[in-house]
Amino acid sequence: MPLNACSESPRAACPPADDEMPVAPAKALACRQEIISTLLAPRASISPKYFYDQRGSELFEAITRLPEYYPTRTEHALLQQHGHAIASAVGRGRVVIEPGAGNCAKGLALCRSLAATHFVGVDISLDYLRTAVLRMRQALPGLDARAVGGDITAGVQLPADIPRRRRLVFYPGSSIGNFDPPQAVALLAQMRALVLADGGLLVGIDLPKDRATLEAAYDDAAGVTAAFNRNALVHLNRLIGSDFKPQCWRHLAFFNAAASRIEMHLEARSAQCVRWPGGGRDFAAGERIHTENSYKHTLAAFDALLRRAGYASSQAWTDARGWFAMVHARA
Ligand code: AVI
Repeated sequence: MPLNACSESPRAACPPADDEMPVAPAKALACRQEIISTLLAPRASISPKYFYDQRGSELFEAITRLPEYYPTRTEHALLQQHGHAIASAVGRGRVVIEPGAGNCAKGLALCRSLAATHFVGVDISLDYLRTAVLRMRQALPGLDARAVGGDITAGVQLPADIPRRRRLVFYPGSSIGNFDPPQAVALLAQMRALVLADGGLLVGIDLPKDRATLEAAYDDAAGVTAAFNRNALVHLNRLIGSDFKPQCWRHLAFFNAAASRIEMHLEARSAQCVRWPGGGRDFAAGERIHTENSYKHTLAAFDALLRRAGYASSQAWTDARGWFAMVHARA
């Protein structure tokens, strides 16, 4: 997730995932300006972070359980299958730091298999995170588990008494794929800055595969991903007072092979006059708003991003179909 609160990034701190939470007026204004400027660009776009209001987060949870959406269950199976090998490569007794930790389910499993000494979950939804961290302490009483509110892309401050040595940043879920390569490099470098030379990163990445599998994962038969995509417009209506009619926009998801990414767009079914206080934009029928990229890096391409971010070496484990990888990079 890049480096300013209002930069182009999924699930960044602007505004918090549930915009019912109070947002500083200056930040709210900056977000509003950011949204409007991307809507007014010749090729309109919305940052994917606007997927994640309360409803959007629920829809995303539903996506992870869809038969077509393979990444979540493939990563889970991969961690089960290669858990011991990953643990011996990463090393036991680590201080695990998980940006975007959410319900901490993956972090808990990792801490258990690494016999981690400390866990620091970082998330913009602090109340939710605190509850998850409490559960973690109950499950692993020997673990020093903490909850830190914040967004890694905005430069997070960890508690001063968290050991500096043997840190491991854990970033599962292939969220790194939602950043364009320069932003991904900046985020990987930001994560590297949290660890010393004996530290590392364990990151999940979704690999390229056949077009049909990829496109089905982002355009499921039940229409959950379509609802998730359109919900961004509902969220925008609340944030900037616009009058988007979500049902007038068609969900599009396709694999852009040249860029090795799934692109999601919303396409106007008919001419749309969208207004918000102080402005608006007319969209012709068929005009699109680009809402998300989800990069499918090869292991070689991802290794190149890691090198650009300053990492020394990397090792990867993949599932039997070669669909997903867990990559361990040494700082
Ligand atoms: C959060 N992220 C890894 C998801 C992905 O697969 O890129 C977001 C998503 N968008 C549509 N479906 C899932």
